[in-house]
Amino acid sequence: MTTPETSLPSSSGTSLAPIDAHGSQVQRMFDRIAGGYDRANRVMSLGIDERWRRRAVADLLSHVPSDRVPVALDLCAGTLDSSLAIHRAFPRAKVLAGDFAAEMLERGREKLVGEAAAHIDTAVMDAHALPVDDASCDAIFCAFGIRNLSDLGRACAEQARALRPGGKLVVLDFFRPDSLGTRIVHAIYNRGVLPWVGWAVTGDREAYQYLPRSIGRFDSTDEYAARLRDAGFVDVRVEGLTMGVASIVRATRSA
Ligand SMILES: C[S@@+](CC[C@H](N)C(=O)[O-])C[C@H]1O[C@@H](n2cnc3c(N)ncnc32)[C@H](O)[C@@H]1O
Repeated sequence: MTTPETSLPSSSGTSLAPIDAHGSQVQRMFDRIAGGYDRANRVMSLGIDERWRRRAVADLLSHVPSDRVPVALDLCAGTLDSSLAIHRAFPRAKVLAGDFAAEMLERGREKLVGEAAAHIDTAVMDAHALPVDDASCDAIFCAFGIRNLSDLGRACAEQARALRPGGKLVVLDFFRPDSLGTRIVHAIYNRGVLPWVGWAVTGDREAYQYLPRSIGRFDSTDEYAARLRDAGFVDVRVEGLTMGVASIVRATRSA
């Protein structure tokens, strides 16, 4: 493998930014449910989350010239399903999987075999203080993580800092619905179905009651797109998935 033109932290890398009370609560919650997280995801979404992930990563690194090893940061990487999807789509790429819940990353590392182990590194990190150099990433991907952050503005600024000019940001998440139709679908799926199935699979009721609450507090796709433009992103595009249950937001770091 060619050495990438960047200095990313190694698998033992840790960012030491202070984590606030909300962050600590979220961190403890994900560490607690790490063991059942993958199973709950598959049951709750009937496997649709894998399809969403594949679609979201499909052109993540296609802008990188072929004479360079692409570098992607999978932010809030959890148990590495997205890191693995990026690796399958771009087998030459170096992927850094970052998350502040060490237990989630630990579960994910169990899935790293063969080429994936050689191309995916993990690092405990807080999304508000990324332990990567300025302009060191060709792409940042984040699935179902942004919604949990305490300070979205600061996290957006960090992503803009870490991306090369022309680099891509792709976010897959459950944004706060704004149309009546989508609100109804969300109410049925995210408030009605997910918490109960999550509880049944992991035994953790609190974690899966948190999910609809976090969606209610989150940006709508329009608000998030405006936030990205303010942070220095251009060409911000939104794609709704499965009747608007989830969305992919793609953006480019301005030159
Ligand atoms: C719902 S999980 C998503 C995991 C993975 N991306 C996926 O799609 O399955 C959210 C993840 O975000 C992580 N997270 C939340 N806030 C974070 C922060 N401030 N810094 C780093 N990771 C964070 C949690 O620890 C958790 O693993």
